[in-house]
Amino acid sequence: MVRKVVFVISMLMLISCKTNIEFRKDVASFLIPKPIELSQVDGFFNIDKNIKIATSENLVTEATYLQKLIEGSSNFKPTIVNDYDISQLQNVILLQEDVKFNGQLSSKEGYSIVISKFKIEIIGNSSEGVMRGIQTLRQLFVDDFHKNIKRDAWQLPLISIKDAPKFKHRGMLFDSGRHFFEVAIVKKYIDLLALYKMNVFHWHLTEDQGWRIAIEKYPKLTEIGAFRVQKDSTIYGGFYTKEQIQEIVAYATERHITVIPEIELPGHSLAALAAYPELSCTGNTVEVTNEWGVFKEIYCAGNEKTFTFLEDVLAEVMELFPSEYIHIGGDEAPKLRWEACPKCQKRIKDENLADEHELQSYFIQRIEKFLHKNNRKLIGWDEILEGGLSPTATVQSWRGENGGIVAANNNQFAIMSPTSHCYFDYGIETTDLEKVYNFNPIPSELAPEKHQFIIGSECNLWSERIPDEENLDSKVFPRIFAMSEVLWTYPKDRDFLEFYNRVQNQYGLLEALHVNYGLEFIPVSLKSTLKVDKVQIEVVTKHKDFKTNYRWNCEDCDTIFVETPSVISLDKSAVLEIETLKKDIKYGANLLQGFKLHKAINSEIKQEYLYKDIYKASGEKALLDGKMGSKNIRDGNWQGFLGTDIECVIDLGKEIEITEIGANFLHKQLSWILTPKEVVFQTSVDGITWKNWGTVISKVDPKNKETILETFSKVNPIETVRYVKLFVENLDQLPEWHEFYKGKSWLFVDEIFVN
Ligand code: ACM
Ligand code: ZN
Repeated sequence: MVRKVVFVISMLMLISCKTNIEFRKDVASFLIPKPIELSQVDGFFNIDKNIKIATSENLVTEATYLQKLIEGSSNFKPTIVNDYDISQLQNVILLQEDVKFNGQLSSKEGYSIVISKFKIEIIGNSSEGVMRGIQTLRQLFVDDFHKNIKRDAWQLPLISIKDAPKFKHRGMLFDSGRHFFEVAIVKKYIDLLALYKMNVFHWHLTEDQGWRIAIEKYPKLTEIGAFRVQKDSTIYGGFYTKEQIQEIVAYATERHITVIPEIELPGHSLAALAAYPELSCTGNTVEVTNEWGVFKEIYCAGNEKTFTFLEDVLAEVMELFPSEYIHIGGDEAPKLRWEACPKCQKRIKDENLADEHELQSYFIQRIEKFLHKNNRKLIGWDEILEGGLSPTATVQSWRGENGGIVAANNNQFAIMSPTSHCYFDYGIETTDLEKVYNFNPIPSELAPEKHQFIIGSECNLWSERIPDEENLDSKVFPRIFAMSEVLWTYPKDRDFLEFYNRVQNQYGLLEALHVNYGLEFIPVSLKSTLKVDKVQIEVVTKHKDFKTNYRWNCEDCDTIFVETPSVISLDKSAVLEIETLKKDIKYGANLLQGFKLHKAINSEIKQEYLYKDIYKASGEKALLDGKMGSKNIRDGNWQGFLGTDIECVIDLGKEIEITEIGANFLHKQLSWILTPKEVVFQTSVDGITWKNWGTVISKVDPKNKETILETFSKVNPIETVRYVKLFVENLDQLPEWHEFYKGKSWLFVDEIFVN
């Protein structure tokens, strides 16, 4: 009997514990973005079958959204009441619209939430504010709630929040052009944006690789333009019907997300030209391409048919999208065809334009007039500055901050998406969670009175390398947390570790929502220290959560992973492999870094021409650090020279015997990087008189589209030398067969070695 009583009591304790742990104990650590003001007291509010949603008619969309949300995870459906006596309300979630606050808090997205023992009050400055508040409430639900497991009751913590965004434009660019994403995935993303208080879904719908929006007047856009023949001869493609687009826009509107469509012009338009070749300068047949890059066929600016076509298309687009803004692209439009086209040249003459850049400006401004006639505003990438910016356009700055700075200084609005922080299609090796967290949409050189023109920012998910949902998830998450925090909260004193801890608390929620989130950063980096003629390697972890093991890979290396010591000495040419664990679970792919032990390590080097700052690797000694560049152009090892030759002299410090001089170059012509035709090596004893060591000719076909690492090496009988010279000539311009004909070409070098 006693045993039975004990059992019953412990069961009761278990049950009560279970209900008691079912709410967020430390709310502050579960919210992204961080609210402006938050306080929490002990206790909880109970939601069960008696719960009601009290609201007014104008918030019926928000109330219904909340009702569906609760119903999805409960054995009950809260009733919505419009007629109530506020003093009598208990067991209720009250949604109200009421502008109460000043300053930032008065933004129409501002809201407050107070959860007391008897009711939840969400007061928004507008219906948008109410929706942002509901999303905060959603983050207060425990992870299990989001799995839509039905329950009878659950709890919410007792809190009080006041909150509002810093920036009014908080977006994500979603590229359905390069890869096509089904409606369900589009909706999933709109919902995730809402959850993290982003408010713009910038939808890139037309590209060289596919036209994705049905246009009644031009059916071939989707019959032909929506499909491409892949490299393996299969057909790839898809498009959104008008009904699907309406469904998506309605879904976004319910969540107060604005969908801004992007219809690219005058470039990135191969898919449209494949369908209607008469719109290009040459009229030649083209294919919807299966390559990534920038292509010279663009809309003809001299042909009236182009404008009729684009206006017809935009008219149908505007019917589907109620957004104030329409994005028209405007980026990466090579002027080659316009230079040779009689119609385009006639237009330049007739309109008194100086050149093809002004012709682009004419093109954009003509389209803008059409948008204005329809009460819409134009956004374009920062190339719309070239040839003269329309005074009413909004600039999306991507090639750095400059486009945004010029626009703001001109009292025009700008959206900041610099490649440095906002290109989430880039890997985390260049753009990791911490880097995004430290992003400031307001350029530091902008005068305070111009800050108001920076309306916000977007993270860009160009989908060349995002073939599917899984990849998309891993590129977006967790980095979008940082974007959301920067744009909404704009923390003045950024505390990455505090933010990082909150990010850890989001993963359970993401798992419940089936988001295949990716890595936060490359968890380890190598710090090599160059001693007189040797290299010491230190494995540095990004956070104390990470532990590592290492091994060397080479023909006669010991291949067992062992715990990484504080310093590893480079004593052979081999590949160093590092495995990382986060809380005992493998984290990301192993780091692989090739090393070469050679006689020029850490020698003095003098360069006649300078590498570009964005590809400088570790600077002065990068070419002689034993650490080899890989096929990843952004691995931090390559030095890139744009349009200049390379000439460098290496001082080995004293006369030594050598038998080999070599250097590695990278070939990636789609990124305008070509290996040199030949590499010339010379040697000297005194640094004044030079002797030829040898000239090595490239074996790579310049047109080859693969990424290729080419080693240029010359072995001779032993000689005693002190100085080694390498000379490489760059091309004056990219050759005629190249898509970027006449542009400058890159030389990428790493490493130079001597044996
Ligand atoms: C862009 O990334 N070409 C805007
Ligand atoms: Zn033309």
